[in-house]
Amino acid sequence: MRLLTLETSGPLERVGAGHCGSVWGNLTSPEADPIPVVIKREDGAPGRSLRNEFLVQSQVCSITSLEQVLVPSCLDFMENQDPRWCQILPQLPDGSQGCNAMLSEKIQPVSIRARRTLIENYCPDELRDHILNSKENRHCLVRVYLGRKRLLNPKQRQARFFSLRNFPLHINQAEEMALPCESYAKAMAEALATLHWKVRTDAADVEFVLGSPRGDPEANTSALGEHSLWMLDFDCSRPIQADDSGLTAIAKAFWGNDPYYPRPHGTNGRSQKLWDIFSAEYQRVGLEIVRAYPMGENPERLSNLVHAAIGRIEETHSHSQSLAIAKYFTQ
Ligand SMILES: Nc1ncnc2c1ncn2[C@@H]1O[C@H](COP(=O)(O)OP(=O)(O)O)[C@@H](O)[C@H]1O
Ligand SMILES: [Mg+2]
Repeated sequence: MRLLTLETSGPLERVGAGHCGSVWGNLTSPEADPIPVVIKREDGAPGRSLRNEFLVQSQVCSITSLEQVLVPSCLDFMENQDPRWCQILPQLPDGSQGCNAMLSEKIQPVSIRARRTLIENYCPDELRDHILNSKENRHCLVRVYLGRKRLLNPKQRQARFFSLRNFPLHINQAEEMALPCESYAKAMAEALATLHWKVRTDAADVEFVLGSPRGDPEANTSALGEHSLWMLDFDCSRPIQADDSGLTAIAKAFWGNDPYYPRPHGTNGRSQKLWDIFSAEYQRVGLEIVRAYPMGENPERLSNLVHAAIGRIEETHSHSQSLAIAKYFTQ
């Protein structure tokens, strides 16, 4: 098999890190349209599998056609003996070694204008210049938390830490900025229903972030400028069965994830409306999929399962509330 060609223009830049490992940018692939590339290295906690991520992300890219959310193209997998490490290792910190790694399209950060807006709104005054000028804060992706409110404005808190990396934007903040929260809710629902019923995976721990669109950024006038919603991080996704065990897995993954999705049983009209939009879109997309691709199963039974998935999430709400609250206060 032919290997994807890579080009580097100097030392690789660490653009992220998680349990699975580290993620590095400053790579491009000159093939087809030149595309910015990240390499995700399996150098984190043992037991996390980039092979699984590569498999799931490849499936998402090849068998689904999401209309409302972008997924980074899944480009290649590297093992520790891959000849391309000779080119890459000199650009990583000294002592780095070959390992399993995945190459995928880089999600480009939101625009400078968006970063300025986030800094103006949320960054403690004494940190502003540093955050605006520091290189690491340029790689700003914005996590969209439609399922959680920010209780205190961070500016009111002790100003110890502020970062634009994976900036957590909560529902009340997104509403304050008049961002299109209903569109985000629909897009997440389309993505989740597609992962469940087309890819047949639980979508555990997937992330939803705002980044630049694939095309030309900076074109329109919303508070964060032109941006797109992206979905990433599939290494924890596990296969599900189209039966009751699948519903349990779906609800567990829904409540176990960070609070990207709207929550059922909203305490005010706006949050209930957001849930209604999310659940209606989930069921619309899910039904369309199971009718078009029943995979040898009974479409009526599958349709009932799509409805029941939403029911199961709604029923398991109170149990998960205590979990979510505990998580919030230990952050
Ligand atoms: N394709 C990508 N483009 C840009 N940034 C990325 C990309 N993939 C990951 N990142 C950044 O790196 C972080 C860690 O990557 P992630 O896939 O979430 O790893 P983990 O599985 O360890 O959580 C992400 O939260 C994101 O900020
Ligand atoms: Mg992650």
